[in-house]
Amino acid sequence: MTKKDFRDLEWGVATSSYQIEGAYKKDGRGLSVWDTFSQKPNKIKNNENGNIACNHYNLWKDDVKLLSELGVDNYRFSISWPRIFPTGLEKKVNSKGIDFYSKLIDELLSYKITPFITLNHWDIPQGIEDIGGWTNRTIIDLFMHYAYTISNHYGDRVKNWITHNEPWCISNNGYLTGNFPPGIKNNGSKYFASIHHLLLSHGKSVPIIKSNSKDSEVGITLNLCPSYPASNSEYDKKACNLFDGKFNRLFLDPIYKAKYPQDILDHFIESNLILEEDLKNIHQNDLIDINTKIDFLGVNYYSRAIIRDNNISKEKNQPITTIKSSNKTSMGWEIYPKGLYDILLKINKDYDINSIYITESGCAFSTNPDKNGDINDQNRIKYHDDHIKELNKAIDKGVPCKGYFAWSLMDNFEWCEGYSQRFGLIWIDYNNQTRTPKNSFYWYKKMIQKEKTLR
Ligand code: FCB
Repeated sequence: MTKKDFRDLEWGVATSSYQIEGAYKKDGRGLSVWDTFSQKPNKIKNNENGNIACNHYNLWKDDVKLLSELGVDNYRFSISWPRIFPTGLEKKVNSKGIDFYSKLIDELLSYKITPFITLNHWDIPQGIEDIGGWTNRTIIDLFMHYAYTISNHYGDRVKNWITHNEPWCISNNGYLTGNFPPGIKNNGSKYFASIHHLLLSHGKSVPIIKSNSKDSEVGITLNLCPSYPASNSEYDKKACNLFDGKFNRLFLDPIYKAKYPQDILDHFIESNLILEEDLKNIHQNDLIDINTKIDFLGVNYYSRAIIRDNNISKEKNQPITTIKSSNKTSMGWEIYPKGLYDILLKINKDYDINSIYITESGCAFSTNPDKNGDINDQNRIKYHDDHIKELNKAIDKGVPCKGYFAWSLMDNFEWCEGYSQRFGLIWIDYNNQTRTPKNSFYWYKKMIQKEKTLR
């Protein structure tokens, strides 16, 4: 591929099943961990849940029409595992679940939109969680069977596959902070087991998907976060390297180098987060399986981290990087487009990556419809424009990026934030499920049209 080829970016938008589908009991769907978690009090803002969400399960035809109006090349969505296997433990598929995605795929293809399927965007069946979820090695076989089933049904029509979305979030938020299901706090052993099983189930599923789906491309999506020391202090630099290790290298090293970063394993053991015996979870050949060649890396980018070591107060005279509150989205995340450039250049240097998709990039701003009903979300337009510019700079420096997916097609259930955070190019009125394209929708559409004429 020449540089020019990579400049021909494919444009897309992304969603995920639990965040948009609703219809949580329809057509034999089982419960996912996000259903049970969001039913518990005080886990989600305003005690909201995804029972109805954007009612995409019923309104999917309208949504595909909107995708076609937007003019995207690609649509990234995820499969709700409990729609296919209601408890996750049975061998027999729920054919109504299979039919739903089959019709969706056909509809997308009829509009010449390429489907990108994510198998696990966090909503695993509660039945699997009940036997330990990602901490129980049994999940690997269950995930492989699920991957086999999905790629067997759709592999003739779908050629782009993502195994997991953001394993960092599942493991860190599920077992250390506890703000995601299963809501466990500070359990290093479970945290590490979940990481290992996520990565292993990924690696072992890649060949299964590829054999069912001829000439397909398979990858995994990681949320990567560039980190910068808050000052020039050696303490901050060290803390920054540790952050990078826990956030980025802990996932990238096994996938691309067949090893866990030793400094991070040592740190986990020294700080008593995990025990030596937790490393016994890593069986012989596991890392070879995790290191299975993939066709692309999916990168989700939202912000950067500025790292300050707690010991630092002793060093008084160091200038410190601070963030202006005006430069944040309504999630409180700093807007830092250059971070996308920095992280892409860094991973392209450190790993042998053949190609990359930006599988998510976006921002929450709650611009309401004005008195004419227009949604003039200039801040979202600027956000995407600035990030795409940084992406193009990275491509000019040799980063093999093939496409960009805006998060998200429409406002949706933003996990612990419920419906309070709006990331969509389309406004959802949750009272009546009306969809209204925002100005960012029309801007993205125009940009895509312009790019297409240059192809
Ligand atoms: C990512 C998730 C996605 C969405 C965005 C805002 O971490 O993958 O589902 O919630 O954040």
